[in-house]
Amino acid sequence: MRRLGILLSGRGSNFEAIARNVRSGALDAEIAVVISNRAEAPGLALARQLGLPARHIPSKGLEREAYDALLIEALRGHGVELVILAGYMRLLSPAFVRAFPMRILNIHPSLLPAFPGLDAQHQAFEYGAKITGCTAHFVDEQLDHGPVIRQAAVAVLPGDTAETLSARILEREHEIYSEAIRIVLSGRYRIEGRRVVTEDGINVA
Ligand code: GRF
Repeated sequence: MRRLGILLSGRGSNFEAIARNVRSGALDAEIAVVISNRAEAPGLALARQLGLPARHIPSKGLEREAYDALLIEALRGHGVELVILAGYMRLLSPAFVRAFPMRILNIHPSLLPAFPGLDAQHQAFEYGAKITGCTAHFVDEQLDHGPVIRQAAVAVLPGDTAETLSARILEREHEIYSEAIRIVLSGRYRIEGRRVVTEDGINVA
């Protein structure tokens, strides 16, 4: 199981980090396709620059289920085995999640279950959290909720703004997302309830 399908809506820095690791051989995988719901997503332009199959699938006027059916078809058409959400700003339908059971990963910029949803770094900063971070997790039918694969902690420093904090979290996202993908591709883990148990026993990055 090595063919990745990347879904994104924006900047694409997580995608870029994954693509770099694939190129260098640090991640034994293949990016089968990059799909964006937004034509102007910088991540899509980057995919084209890198010579990867890149597709814009517009969602305008489509119900969620109908759109997701198009996505499933496109991903299957490219032989995708593992779906990687990389700043994909749409909720997935239950049908999509069921089409790739425990085969969809997401990266979220907080230590879940704290601060799910949008602008998690700002939420943590405004809350006054002293430690926040990021979480790589399986996707289930609830938002930012599936079993956790890897987390990294990031301290809030004196003088931080939400932006400087976000930048440090992003650096860790780029590390742990590839680690999480590597674990899932290796198959060397099992899921006990919500707990992802890896054979190396490492829980934190
Ligand atoms: C990241 O902060 C990620 O955690 C969240 O969306 C953002 C995407 O950034 N899910 P990028 O497009 O990968 O640069």
